[in-house]
Amino acid sequence: METSLLTAPLDQIEADALIVLCFEKEEGAPEPLASIRAEVIQELYQLGEFKGKSLETALLHHPSGLKAGRLLLVGGGKWAKFDASELRKVSGAALRLLKAKGARTIVLALGAGFSTAQHVSAAIEGAILGDYDPDRYKTEHLDERKSVASFAVAVPQAAPGLEEALRRGRIVAESQNFTRDLVSEPANRLTPSVLAGRARQMATDEGLECEVLDRGRMQQLGMGALLGVAAGSEEPPALIVLRYRPAGSVPDSPHLGLIGKGITFDTGGISIKPSENMDKMKYDMAGGAAVLGAMRALAQLKPSIPVTALVPAVENMPSGRAQRPGDIVTTLSGKTVEVLNTDAEGRLILADAITFAKRLGCTHLVDAATLTGAIVVALGYVYVGAFASDEALLGRVLSASKEAGEKTWHMPLDDDYKEVLKSEFADLPNIGNRWGGAVTAAMFLKEFADETPWVHLDIAGTAWLEEAKPFLPKGPSGIPVRTLIRLATNWIP
Ligand code: BES
Ligand code: MN
Ligand code: ZN
Repeated sequence: METSLLTAPLDQIEADALIVLCFEKEEGAPEPLASIRAEVIQELYQLGEFKGKSLETALLHHPSGLKAGRLLLVGGGKWAKFDASELRKVSGAALRLLKAKGARTIVLALGAGFSTAQHVSAAIEGAILGDYDPDRYKTEHLDERKSVASFAVAVPQAAPGLEEALRRGRIVAESQNFTRDLVSEPANRLTPSVLAGRARQMATDEGLECEVLDRGRMQQLGMGALLGVAAGSEEPPALIVLRYRPAGSVPDSPHLGLIGKGITFDTGGISIKPSENMDKMKYDMAGGAAVLGAMRALAQLKPSIPVTALVPAVENMPSGRAQRPGDIVTTLSGKTVEVLNTDAEGRLILADAITFAKRLGCTHLVDAATLTGAIVVALGYVYVGAFASDEALLGRVLSASKEAGEKTWHMPLDDDYKEVLKSEFADLPNIGNRWGGAVTAAMFLKEFADETPWVHLDIAGTAWLEEAKPFLPKGPSGIPVRTLIRLATNWIP
């Protein structure tokens, strides 16, 4: 899909469809369109057929006074509450509706109050994200599949920074879709080696350094926790390392480490999961895919902080070679772990990746992982859970998340929770008791981050959309790619 910025008067715009934002009628609310004859719109309001409520739509054909073939009114809700996050959704919902109706060229008109750089970026992001469908493996009606050829944002007047805003929005959304593509791949098509190959290809395309550690190298280094999880699978593990270095970076300045859980399939191992919904466990590499997507964007956006990404990619399988409950592994840090449940595998591979990130010189760590079912119990499908050992880094992550329009909630991480992390035979068990499972998982990771400022994002409830939204299809959400990108681009060392 081509994207562009337009400044032509709306009645001169030629397109299959023109999208116009309409707000709820109230004091001060901007009129939908001063520049075109709006009697039809007024009539819809008067009849109560259209109220301007958030994401409400009305489609008019051959609108008088316009060159566009169709006029789509889309509700923005209360105008005073309308922000870039709302616009992202509106833009996505409008694009999805028009795409389904076969529109090929689409223009979204932004009014005077809503055409800042932030708005332009969000509008483009919404459209590109809304254009995505995880239907790669559907061969039926391939020839009839609808696609949008171009999407333009029309602003009342050109202003400095708007073209750049368009470019940034496109990079961010395309990178988020890169992540969604990886997450939607089934486990037979995306093994740890395939994921490493995709990462390597992306790094070559974008000019990032890439290194992949194989099983032999992990054995040499002593990554016993990661290797323990990998033991049950015929598929060899891979530890993917990508590096972005800004030009002229200063030694001893902050160095961000992004770590993503890359379990390409989680059967639970010997502590096997029930078969119901087990198919979902192909998205257990969503944290890893998010980190790779963020790196793709950062390679183009060029933040001033160095960023290293680490993705331990492993398949968690039961077999004659699989690790057993009760096994004791020695982690890269030297700490020993008693594996009481082989289904608590994410924290094991992350423990070694976190230790390795510190060895590579990362001074600040953020991990993203579909780590626990317990975070879904706590926060549902709405908020990412954030656990932190450092207030300042947490602040950066939360504001990045807010600016990016992704929802993140601060969860507790208190030493009192450590009580349940006691093993009789090793330094640590890999599970706590029944309660507060998302916190004890985070507490386990904290033992490995240790003194290094660290934030853990549990995305088990948010990485996969269980139901389609008007602006997004069911499937991989690409969360928290935008948060990770913002975190790095906002960081001025
Ligand atoms: N990958 C799962 C967590 C998960 C659950 C992700 C639901 C997405 C949706 C993780 O490896 C896991 O199995 N966690 C266990 C931990 C337990 C054994 C302590 C869980 O949450 O049940
Ligand atoms: Mn598991
Ligand atoms: Zn898992």
